[in-house]
Amino acid sequence: MSITLSVIKADIGGYVGHSESHPDVIAKGEECMAKAKRDGLLVDYHVTKCGDDLQLIMTHQHGVDNEKIHKLAWDTFVDCTEVAKTLKLHGAGQDLLADAFSGNVKGMGPGVAEMEFEERGAETIIIFMADKTSSGAWNLPLYKMFADPFNTIGLVIASEMHTGFTFEVHDVKEHKKITFNAPDEIYDLLVFIGAPARYMVKAVYHRESKEIAAVSSTQRLSLIAGRYIGKDDPVCIVRSQGKFPAVGEVLEPFTLPLLVEGWMRGSHHGPLMPVAIKDSTPTRFDGPPRVVALGFQLSGGKLVGPRDMFADKSFDNARQQANDVADFLRRHGPFEPHRLPLEEMEYTTMPQVMKKLEGRFTNLD
Ligand code: F6R
Ligand code: MG
Ligand code: MG
Repeated sequence: MSITLSVIKADIGGYVGHSESHPDVIAKGEECMAKAKRDGLLVDYHVTKCGDDLQLIMTHQHGVDNEKIHKLAWDTFVDCTEVAKTLKLHGAGQDLLADAFSGNVKGMGPGVAEMEFEERGAETIIIFMADKTSSGAWNLPLYKMFADPFNTIGLVIASEMHTGFTFEVHDVKEHKKITFNAPDEIYDLLVFIGAPARYMVKAVYHRESKEIAAVSSTQRLSLIAGRYIGKDDPVCIVRSQGKFPAVGEVLEPFTLPLLVEGWMRGSHHGPLMPVAIKDSTPTRFDGPPRVVALGFQLSGGKLVGPRDMFADKSFDNARQQANDVADFLRRHGPFEPHRLPLEEMEYTTMPQVMKKLEGRFTNLD
């Protein structure tokens, strides 16, 4: 059975500030999704949140980039924005950059990760969702999952994984893409994905069967809007078990609270803290950035689950480390490398401040 899994997300209002989603907004999202399921457009759905981002997880049989599915997501965000406006939530409708839907939510503000595949006898899926960080945050974890034998022992000892995986990398500034095969081309691959602000792992494929293994959202809000309006807060879908990394191999990269860009005013480097959904409430200096992971088994497209994977105690040390790194970085205040380099600050509100001071610069002798 061919099934499409679409995860479409948007920040359409925060409670309180940018720290959390309001239950009434999530309830409205549920209502819209339930209707679409009753009408037969969706096979199944799960509505959740990561921090101030509303997450629509949908299964259907209409393929990726389907106009009806994208319109459903857009209309749901619009209806939820109405609730956010009534409650006067902060930044109501923030990520809806267009006045009206026009065919596909890509380029209109929301983040999108979708994949179509033949459902296996047992189809294990992990969906990662992050808040207070940028698209590109998945580069290091995806590399570890699918190319690093120190993370994924299956690459060494599981015959179905031994030939490796293919990485599709997008250059979001030049709108180009390139593919690399791991393990033979990992040095070439790392030249690019080690610079995640520009080069992003869009998808990973099983090298032999060519089956899709992972897909991420690569929309960069600042490049779409041409100004700062909040961080991308990306999502990523990973298929697991069998010819793909086991659940434990998929989750293992997040035991490192890797440094990502985002955090306060989208202008800082900070540790990505793996947390349970209920703890995706970035509060300290509007952070530190969070990642949640929901696990599902698919059964005829039905979402059996979720299991809240980072609720497990084995991620306590990663959380502690993230808090220690947060303490250390915060002591740098407005100095790099806690604050982002100037090139990245061009996409924040900083240029407005700099413009004011332009006339005060005089030439050096
Ligand atoms: C970061 C984020 C927050 C806001 C900050 C200022 O992604 O969303 O750190 O940038 O709270 O928010 P505004 O400008 O909405 O008052
Ligand atoms: Mg927000
Ligand atoms: Mg957010």
